[in-house]
Amino acid sequence: MALSRRHFVRTAGMGALTTSFIAARGRENLVWSAFEPALEAADAATIIISSNENPMGPGQKVLDAITAAFGPDGGRPGRYSGTARDLIDALAKKHGVKTENIVLGCGSTQILRSVTHVFTAKDKPLVATIPTYEECADYATLMGNKVVGVPLDSEFRPDLDRFAAASRGAGLVFYCNPSNPSSTFVPASATRDFVAKLNSQSPATTILVDEAYFEYVTNPDHETFIPLAVQNPRVIVARTFSKCYGMAGMRVGYAVGHADTIKRLSEWDAGVGTSTMNVLALHAGIAAIQQDDSFVKNERARNTAVRDFSLKWFAGRNMKPADSQANFMFVNIGRPVKAFREACAAKGVRVARDFPPFEKTHCRIAFGTMDEMQRAVKVFEEVLAKPATAAA
Ligand SMILES: Cc1ncc(COP(=O)(O)O)c(C=O)c1O
Repeated sequence: MALSRRHFVRTAGMGALTTSFIAARGRENLVWSAFEPALEAADAATIIISSNENPMGPGQKVLDAITAAFGPDGGRPGRYSGTARDLIDALAKKHGVKTENIVLGCGSTQILRSVTHVFTAKDKPLVATIPTYEECADYATLMGNKVVGVPLDSEFRPDLDRFAAASRGAGLVFYCNPSNPSSTFVPASATRDFVAKLNSQSPATTILVDEAYFEYVTNPDHETFIPLAVQNPRVIVARTFSKCYGMAGMRVGYAVGHADTIKRLSEWDAGVGTSTMNVLALHAGIAAIQQDDSFVKNERARNTAVRDFSLKWFAGRNMKPADSQANFMFVNIGRPVKAFREACAAKGVRVARDFPPFEKTHCRIAFGTMDEMQRAVKVFEEVLAKPATAAA
């Protein structure tokens, strides 16, 4: 499956409104893939800014909870555990919803796949922007279901009228906000209008709002769509502990939605949230949300400072970055990304994979620590000083 998911996907669009959808590959956690030995070989000095992670990792309370979960009070990893219920309880409290509104996933990847499985069909396509995070499109394609792509505008934002028009009759709309890889964000007011329009013109279409990078947004017109999702069976919100909470390796994500929607997801993926979750990750998730609010606030502030520095560095060299509201940027480096990536890797800096159809110009770069970015830009400077053809 991993190999077939790597194939680029081209699916015919809906009339004149859409173009072909091109998807590269799915997960950010390809660092674990058996097909990526070079990434596995990265040494401690390598600056890894390829996968939109929090370079600080989890907070101390999370690390302590993981250690404590090893026992000795019962040897928890040796037991099937009821801890999934505790994490769902904690999440319900955090978001002010009922436990029946939440389902857990082994990373939000599992949520994205389950939602695609339940809400797309041969005659109910998936609609998403081009480019976007590929998980749903890859999975729909794997199921043999149609994928419709809607190009972003020149500022790498979705053209919402075009997006809504293309979504008529769709089974599922993947609405990633902030979006990966473009890093841009649609304000809450415009998202609300988009959802209302779609609900009225295509009432059977479900909208998956992926809020993976929610905590990093600094635009004031920003709010979660969780309250709407619990009321509206046609809206689902996906969240993850992989980004701001620094727990990508622990694999904890969840969906919040109307009780009927969550029931459908749970029925499809029987036992989701219990049998797919490991005990250490569950304890880590509980500890993560019990941290003081200052954890998220501090991480957002840290990322914002690094983001400002990095965007300014490229803009100052006439390389235009999209307006990032996330913990990564999408920047026009004016040359094929493959050669740039390989030249940077040879100097110990890992930037992201290609994102067709922008692989000839735009590179996605995650934000490391300030120290890492200050060192990374020196490498970028050296690599970009050479003509594009010689860069590799
Ligand atoms: C937009 C978006 N959604 C979902 C995911 C999946 O994350 P995870 O499975 O680690 O929760 C990612 C990973 O980078 C992402 O960028």
